Amino acid sequence: MLKVLAFNGSPRRKGNTEVLLAAVEKGILSAGGEMEIVRLADLDISPCISCGGCDKTGVCVVEDGMTALYEKIDGSRRIILASPIYFYSITAQAKAFVDRSQAMWSKKYLLKKKGEWQEDPDRLGYFVSVAATRGEKIFEGAELTARYFYDAIGFHYCNSLLVKGIDKRGEMAAAEEKIKAGEEFGRKIAAGDC
Ligand SMILES: Cc1cc2nc3c(=O)[nH]c(=O)nc-3n(C[C@H](O)[C@H](O)[C@H](O)COP(=O)(O)O)c2cc1C
Repeated sequence: MLKVLAFNGSPRRKGNTEVLLAAVEKGILSAGGEMEIVRLADLDISPCISCGGCDKTGVCVVEDGMTALYEKIDGSRRIILASPIYFYSITAQAKAFVDRSQAMWSKKYLLKKKGEWQEDPDRLGYFVSVAATRGEKIFEGAELTARYFYDAIGFHYCNSLLVKGIDKRGEMAAAEEKIKAGEEFGRKIAAGDC
């Protein structure tokens, strides 16, 4: 059975990202898949300190909430990075998580030559985001971050579900069309569509 691993970067409980991810999960389940959601705000993930420790080993020297996630990512074939837009970017919680994937970047780009890393074409990544406003470029920065996060961890970046104009808690749940789009997105992920 296909298992999807989702990381939610929103700190808001019952928030818009959480509700949208629940719709995505419904779509995945309806297509016979499974989904695990990791709430990044519940974990203690400190920012990357650029110590260079992972350069030689591909392993992060900091032990905290991120430590168990490396293994989870390694064991996954479908990942969703989800975050609301904060100042045209992802949240601080999501960014700390993304920055700590530098250890996986090191493994891929610095240790590949030693045969310690292999490309797996069946690893697909998706991005889910919500913003209050409707600006044309509102998701541009965050999506670029997601794209290069997936490159670093050796996943092919497929596509995104980006919802504009949703702000207060409860607004997503009331937006029927967006919920339907979430379910459809989940079915696409389960089908391995890019
Ligand atoms: C610190 C902060 C910064 C934000 N920055 C933006 C922004 O730059 N553009 C925008 O459209 N919405 C911005 N928002 C609004 C959130 O993206 C919006 O409320 C979203 O629905 C929250 O999703 P959540 O309920 O999953 O946390 C910001 C919200 C917060 C708390």
